[in-house]
Amino acid sequence: MKRAVPIVGLVWLAVIGVHASPAQNPPPAPAGRMAEQVFQNVQVLKGIPADEFLDTMGMFASALLFDCVSCHAKEIISDPKAFQVATPRVQRARQMVVMMNTINTQFFGGQPRVTCFTCHGGGNRPKTEPNLDLQYGEPADDPYAMAFVPSLYAPPVDQVFAKYLASVGGADQLATFTSFAATGTYAGYETEQMEVPAEVYVRAPNQMATIAKTPAGLNVRVFDGRVGWRFQPDTPLPLIELSGGNLTGAAIEAMMWFPATIQRAFAQWQVGVSAIGGRDVVAVQGTNPGQPPVRLYFDEESGRLLRLVHWRPTAVGAVPTRIDFADYRALGGIQVPFQWTRTWTNNQVVVQLNEIRPNAPIDASRFARPAI
Ligand code: HEC
Ligand code: HEC
Repeated sequence: MKRAVPIVGLVWLAVIGVHASPAQNPPPAPAGRMAEQVFQNVQVLKGIPADEFLDTMGMFASALLFDCVSCHAKEIISDPKAFQVATPRVQRARQMVVMMNTINTQFFGGQPRVTCFTCHGGGNRPKTEPNLDLQYGEPADDPYAMAFVPSLYAPPVDQVFAKYLASVGGADQLATFTSFAATGTYAGYETEQMEVPAEVYVRAPNQMATIAKTPAGLNVRVFDGRVGWRFQPDTPLPLIELSGGNLTGAAIEAMMWFPATIQRAFAQWQVGVSAIGGRDVVAVQGTNPGQPPVRLYFDEESGRLLRLVHWRPTAVGAVPTRIDFADYRALGGIQVPFQWTRTWTNNQVVVQLNEIRPNAPIDASRFARPAI
C-alpha cells in the first residue's frame, strides 16, 4: 500500500497550522462557483467546481508524493494568498496538465486514460526501467483502481448482501433504526492527530453530519440528502459545496448506516474476491449510469462491512476516498461500527464514537449548510 497520505497530510498541517484569522481567508465558494471565480490565478484548470479543483491538487500531491509546499511558495504557510504565486514547479505542473490533455485527446479519444499518476506513480521523477520484482512477485490487488475485476468464484450479490444484513442484526431489527445522534472523538492532520470532541448525526435514508471541534474552530462535513458541504477553517477555501463524485460519495457514506437500503441504491453490481490485512474479503462494486462507482468490502467470515471506496473524477484523473469501519458493537439488537477511518488525498481522519443515541430527535439545522 502506498504511504502517500502522511506526506500529503504534513502538507495540510503546514497550511492549516497557519494562524490566519478568519477575516484573512478568501470568501467561501457559493454554490456552483468555478475555480477561476474563487481563486486568483487559475490558468489551465478552468471551468471546474472549486471542490474538484482542490481534488486536482490532491491528485498532484498523491501522484508525485509531494506536499503543497513542494510546488507552492513557502509563504502559503502563513498566507493562503501565496497559493497564486507561479513557482517553477507550478509552471512545470501547468505544462504537464497541457501535455496530459494532449495525449488523451490525440491518442485516447479524449478519455482520461493517462493521468498524473499513470506516469508519476508516487514520485516526482517517473521511473524509466522495468522492475523485476513486479514481474516475478505476487500480483497485488489495487483497491484504489476504479476498474473492477469480477471473480468467477465469488458468491452471487444477493447472497453477499443477505449475509451482511444478517451479520448486523437482520432486516427486521435494522428497520427499527432510522437515525442516531452520537458523541465521540475526531483526529486528523488538522488536529495534529490529537483526539478532539466530535458529534455525528445520521438520519435515514441518507443525511449525515460530522462536526469536530478542532483548535482552529469547528470542522464540518455534512450532506442533507441532496446537497453537501465541507467547512474547514484556515484552508485556502474554508466553505466548499460538494459536487460530482464528492456529492455521490457523501450520499453513500450516509446511506451506509442503513444497510438494508444499499443494494437497491445501485442499478448494477459486480462481485469479486480480495483480501484486507490478511483477511479474505468479498468485494462488490455498485454502479449507477453517469456516476462514479462505489466499492464495498465485506469480511468473508463475519459478513460485516469493512471498507468502502468511492471516487471523484477530476480534470486530471479520478481520486479515491476510502473508509475503513471497525469496532462493531451491539446497539439495541443491531451491530454498528463505532469507529471509522476516512482516507483521501488531503487527509486521513479517525472518528471514534463513545456514545450513540439511536432514534434520537435531530434538528433539521444539523444537516443544513454550515453557517460561518
Ligand atoms: C505538482 C505541483 C502542485 C502541488 C503538489 C500542489 N499544487 Fe496547488 N497548484 C498547482 C498548479 C499548477 C496550480 C495552478 C493551476 C492552474 O493554473 O490552473 C495550483 C493552484 C492552486 C491554488 C489556486 C491559487 C490561486 O489563487 O490561483 C490553490 C488554492 C492550490 N493550488 C492549493 C493547493 C493545495 C492545498 C495543495 C496541497 C494539497 C496543492 N495546491 C498542491 C500545482 C500544485
Ligand atoms: C506522460 C508521462 C507524464 C505525465 C502524464 C505527467 N508527467 Fe509530470 N513528469 C514526467 C516526466 C518524465 C518528468 C521529468 C522528471 C525528471 O526530471 O526526471 C515530469 C516532471 C514533473 C514535474 C517536475 C518534478 C520536479 O522534480 O521538479 C512536475 C511538477 C510534474 N511532472 C507534475 C505533473 C502533474 C501535476 C501531472 C498531471 C497533470 C503530470 N506531471 C503528468 C512525466 C509525466
